[in-house]
Amino acid sequence: MSFAGSHYDFSDKARAYGELARDLGALLAGERHWIANTANATALIFDALPDLNWAGVYVPTTNASGVRELVVGPFQGKPACVRIAMGSGVCGTAAARRETIVVPDVTAFDGHIACDSASRSEIVIPLLRAGHADAAFVGVMDLDSPRLARFDDADRAGLERMAAILAAACDWPA
Ligand code: SME
Repeated sequence: MSFAGSHYDFSDKARAYGELARDLGALLAGERHWIANTANATALIFDALPDLNWAGVYVPTTNASGVRELVVGPFQGKPACVRIAMGSGVCGTAAARRETIVVPDVTAFDGHIACDSASRSEIVIPLLRAGHADAAFVGVMDLDSPRLARFDDADRAGLERMAAILAAACDWPA
């Protein structure tokens, strides 16, 4: 099976995300390690979607003071900030609210954490496992773009579908 990004035609986003979701399912089949699967999922997305400069995940962990925060996981793009407090930046806000946040202009988001100065817009999708009431939240998926207002409602719907597939496909750390 080939996962070359060039065969996804995002002039029809619903169709392209449908194909990408199918390919993500195939790519992750037979493996449940969260590092392996988030690495391959973010590589697939970064290769397939036009106009991205960063794609990766942050996962929850407990710091030395016993406080829960986010730590960076597998990604594609420039080196990123390692730890983000719950409620901080776009990632920490999406994590705290357990909901997708679309930021059309990162300079207009109060508290945005700039990792790559090329980023102009951003979407962060929580990774939530269906059917796990107490442990539903397992991380966030973060995509950055050098283009203003890169992510629309079709991207949100398509990427939430990808996030659901990824969340269900992994055994996550406690
Ligand atoms: N911009 C994010 C930080 C992560 S980097 O973009 C990779 C934020 O505000 O949470």
